[in-house]
Amino acid sequence: MAFRDLFWRQITAAVVRQTNVIQPHRAPSEDDYVRPMPMGRRYPGLGDIPVYMSENTPKSEEADEFTLIALHEVLHWKETYPLATAFNEPYTEEGVPYPHEYEKLAPTPKRPEDFLPGADRLAGIARRGPFSMYTKPDGQGGYFLDFSSLEALEPRAPFIRVGGIARFKRKEDRTLETVSIEFQGKTLTRESAEWSLAEKRILAAINSYSTFVDHLTHVHLLGAGTWTVCTHLALPAHHPLRILMQPFIIETMRVNNDNIDGLIKSDHSNVPNYTGYSLAALNEVMRAAVAKFDVRWFDAELRAAGAGQLDDPAFPTMESAVTLWRIYRKFVDGWVKQHLPTVDLETRIWCQELHARVPNGVSQLLGIKDFETELTLEHVAHLATMGIFTASVWHHVVANMGREYEMQFDVMPPALDKDGHTTLGIVYEKRNSITIAGLLRYKLIDDTVYLPQDSMKQLWQSFQSELKAYEAGLDQDPAGKFYRVVPSQVPSSVHA
Ligand SMILES: [Fe+2]
Repeated sequence: MAFRDLFWRQITAAVVRQTNVIQPHRAPSEDDYVRPMPMGRRYPGLGDIPVYMSENTPKSEEADEFTLIALHEVLHWKETYPLATAFNEPYTEEGVPYPHEYEKLAPTPKRPEDFLPGADRLAGIARRGPFSMYTKPDGQGGYFLDFSSLEALEPRAPFIRVGGIARFKRKEDRTLETVSIEFQGKTLTRESAEWSLAEKRILAAINSYSTFVDHLTHVHLLGAGTWTVCTHLALPAHHPLRILMQPFIIETMRVNNDNIDGLIKSDHSNVPNYTGYSLAALNEVMRAAVAKFDVRWFDAELRAAGAGQLDDPAFPTMESAVTLWRIYRKFVDGWVKQHLPTVDLETRIWCQELHARVPNGVSQLLGIKDFETELTLEHVAHLATMGIFTASVWHHVVANMGREYEMQFDVMPPALDKDGHTTLGIVYEKRNSITIAGLLRYKLIDDTVYLPQDSMKQLWQSFQSELKAYEAGLDQDPAGKFYRVVPSQVPSSVHA
């Protein structure tokens, strides 16, 4: 055990040492050539999945040689001598303390109020925090969280199936109350003997779904990754849209290339280890998520409206995501107005590349059929906002905000055995992966962005001023701040 602990601490510390350095953004460069390829070429189990990653990491984003060699050695060692499954002691309520050494790398995760003893955990996370984005109205004044699609998924021994549907009623004070949980055709109420396990089945399902589908598949691959690939392909370095995207997409290729091997290369990789599912099962989950992907997910206003949460103060996390979305949209509209007089050929190709490479396309979102004749600057601004918002705000929600919850292993285990416990090996795997993912490198409101023209700098500064003004307003409500998207905590790009 001591060896395992030491091993993971050393890996985490090594990764952190080279990423946890605030650096100035770099200007776009023509040398940053990338070549897209379908993901199944790198991960054959995914078959012909319509997800594109870059075959190479652009020159300016490459890690130093020592780091690359170390990373490959660690992955090779981990694949050859599987670690996580070899330590199957049950993880109990006492759990493993958060290692003191990690404080230097990432702060101890804060325990959300919703996870304090006696709290209605599901009702709390359905209303605020990163998972409130999954809450939907039932059409009768109530809400529900639906993770029934995971019920059919068989985990490896000794884990049990997770998932289900949780239903909530809305109270006078705008809070929610959990009224029932459905699992495999059976409806449970709070009085049921199996309630506690049913609650954990939902929490474990959210844990896996959020990490694997939202964070990896949606945000990293279909969002930041696809936008980055298309931006590099279609736009030359001096193009105003490329300059706009640059601070938000930098390093995306780096984290989306070799690092993904560590997550989904084999059954010994990180995600199969900590979710308790086989790689084959996870490949199917990703294929299903991609097949039904709707790009409107990336637009905070459309997402909030679809969830019946638009401009509703009962849902503070969604409310602040929408506020930030509007600040982003204003910034991009101003940028396009000043620096992109017409839909030029390169911009058109950029939109067409996005339509071709985002699963199920973007034409339905834009409400157009013909990119040659119908594309307007308004459409361009909408797509650009989605790209930069996903790479920064959505990534923050699923990574940093999610971390506060997913590190509470006693409440929200990544996988469950029949007694509602997980295993220590899985806890280590998850803890280390999300410590790395939660590191802040480029802050959204750092004043270090490279911009070649004064008018661009002014737009960037007024964008930052609006973000700061929003944040200052949040200080009036310190208790609620934890559940809001706070701009100074948002990285400006996907980097882990
Ligand atoms: Fe990430």
